[in-house]
Amino acid sequence: MAKATTPADLTITPRDLRFGRGMRRTRWWMNDDPVATAFYNALSITFPKGEGFFVDSVRAFRDGTPPLLAAEINAFIKQEVMHTREHVAFNRHVTDQGYDVSLLDIHVDEALALTDGKPAIARLAATMALEHFTAILAHALLADPRHLDGAEPQAAAMWRWHAAEEIEHKGVAYDTWLHATRDWSRTRRWLFKSMVMLTTARKFFVGRYLGTIELLRQDGITGPRAHLGTLGYALVRPGMVRKIFGAWASYFLPGFHPWNSDDRALIARAESDYAAAVLPRAAVAA
Ligand SMILES: [Fe+2]
Ligand SMILES: [Fe+2]
Repeated sequence: MAKATTPADLTITPRDLRFGRGMRRTRWWMNDDPVATAFYNALSITFPKGEGFFVDSVRAFRDGTPPLLAAEINAFIKQEVMHTREHVAFNRHVTDQGYDVSLLDIHVDEALALTDGKPAIARLAATMALEHFTAILAHALLADPRHLDGAEPQAAAMWRWHAAEEIEHKGVAYDTWLHATRDWSRTRRWLFKSMVMLTTARKFFVGRYLGTIELLRQDGITGPRAHLGTLGYALVRPGMVRKIFGAWASYFLPGFHPWNSDDRALIARAESDYAAAVLPRAAVAA
């Protein structure tokens, strides 16, 4: 097994980029495919609230961390704040097409409310679980360029940029947890993080599935066509959810660390892919 720590030479670099401003995106921006579009739209709707939660949850443990980890937490926060800004812009394209996302917002509120009244360490564990999801989804997205085939270029660039930064900071919530629970036994750590992951995973899959179905309903696609289409897209072709299953399950193995899989090569590849679509900062409004 590879080293179970964040690589010593990793640099987390917030890239302040903007995508998709000043344009009107087509309704089915992803390959003119309503199912694929709904899959990504449903995910994007969750990010602003979700990433705000991640930032608060990790920041709560920043004090007292070693200087290197504290610096990584700060870079993580900067990256997530910019992701939120870009997903707010992306989601505006979604609502501009007439989609009502209020039910999807409710799903997110309900999921985040599960941690109300729970100790801060539970919010950190939920963040760590969701950061694992974003890291392995990002890996799958960048490892197989076919996922974004036919996507509107600015949208594809935004997803690649976000995915690259998710890979880059994938160890931050985990390392924060390792530091925060340094006095816990291995068994207690494992039980806690595993229980939180199981709850989080169920909410994550059910929430995104229902969100996709709801957006498809607004396209007039319902019943078996919506359900089989969504399941086929997620599990068969291109099969993003099927592809992440092994990496998801590795979370429960002893010695798990996000950087057991060093996939930094995907970051460099994504950067060269999205570079051409980046909008010059002066040319766009916030
Ligand atoms: Fe993010
Ligand atoms: Fe993240």
